[in-house]
Amino acid sequence: PLTSQSVCCGGGRERRLLGNLAAHLLPSTMAQKTVLITGCSSGIGLALAVKMATDEQKRFKVYATMRDLAKQDKLIEAAGNTVGNTLEIKQLDVCSDESIKMCVSSIPGRRIDVLVSNAGMGLIGPIECQTIKEMQNVMDTNFFGLVRLLKEILPDMKKRKSGHIVIISSVMGIQGILFNDVYAASKFAVEGFCESLAIQALKFKLNLSLIEPGPVVTEFERKVFEDGMNMDLSAADKETADMFVNIYLKNYKQIFQTLGQTAEDIAEIILAENPPFRHQTNTLYTPITTLKYADPNGDLPIDTFYKMVFQHDKVFSASLNFIKMLRWKSRKSFDLGGGRSSQ
Ligand SMILES: NC(=O)c1ccc[n+]([C@@H]2O[C@H](COP(=O)([O-])OP(=O)(O)OC[C@H]3O[C@@H](n4cnc5c(N)ncnc54)[C@H](OP(=O)(O)O)[C@@H]3O)[C@@H](O)[C@H]2O)c1
Repeated sequence: PLTSQSVCCGGGRERRLLGNLAAHLLPSTMAQKTVLITGCSSGIGLALAVKMATDEQKRFKVYATMRDLAKQDKLIEAAGNTVGNTLEIKQLDVCSDESIKMCVSSIPGRRIDVLVSNAGMGLIGPIECQTIKEMQNVMDTNFFGLVRLLKEILPDMKKRKSGHIVIISSVMGIQGILFNDVYAASKFAVEGFCESLAIQALKFKLNLSLIEPGPVVTEFERKVFEDGMNMDLSAADKETADMFVNIYLKNYKQIFQTLGQTAEDIAEIILAENPPFRHQTNTLYTPITTLKYADPNGDLPIDTFYKMVFQHDKVFSASLNFIKMLRWKSRKSFDLGGGRSSQ
């Protein structure tokens, strides 16, 4: 679990085994880990903050941050009496150096044992209909937000030679999806950045984990869909606009309903497992990402997506319905690795 990084320094498998062992062997009186999570006003950030703050063994002191403190009510309600005890709410906007500096400096000794870089935003639609400003905003939040956090927090972790950086990436950090061009680019940037940094981090005994969820039913899904529905498509040709509305948006809700996990699923996975460098959370999605590794030339996934969307759309839709029916029948998520039900 996330408590293990201070005792492990090897690579991959040994690191995880050591980590799991440590979780069993370390006395329950060990010092609380301080955890800073960004983007806790909703979704995965909120669920993870609550999950960690309500840990029975009180292993974590959680600094749950959000850019707009006016949105803290939902977190306060969910976190209950942990607020002021194992959970503190702080302001942090990942697009502002100043706000990050103020937040980190307000933490005793600036000590952050676990950083969870979660804040993020989506953007869908034809690029002809998006402004460069909108695209830059996505890059600034999803990619430079992480870079800003690390510029402030990494030097302290290096000095202490301990720390765990958990980054909420996405399956779109390893594979592009139709009409998610800029969002996928922002997550690819995150993945390339972390892959490079992970080598240096190991030298300082720091762990990096990229969490790669597929669809998760959160505010993100609602906001992105609404923005897509309200998009001015006049700059796109008729064929592209049709494709976006009648193929992409038409299937959007069903994909989330069928394959979607909950924010609590993701929080539980992060906490229960000792994440490796890359961790895809949704086994229903892995056949799709596997295509990428099956063909180093890159044609196989593109070809498969093309056929799925434009030639076998009825089979695709029928498969989604079938999965939905199976999930409904079993009234629980598919086995996501832990063999437990989630809803
Ligand atoms: N939902 C999915 O399907 C899915 C799938 C894969 C990966 N992810 C990733 O998971 C992460 C969390 O998303 P979610 O699904 O939990 O969505 P969410 O409910 O919309 O949460 C996103 C959080 O990020 C915050 N945020 C946005 N810009 C920020 C900024 N400049 N500074 C600080 N916080 C900011 C939002 O705050 P406001 O309330 O103020 O906007 C919100 O608290 C994101 O990185 C997303 O890319 C999501």
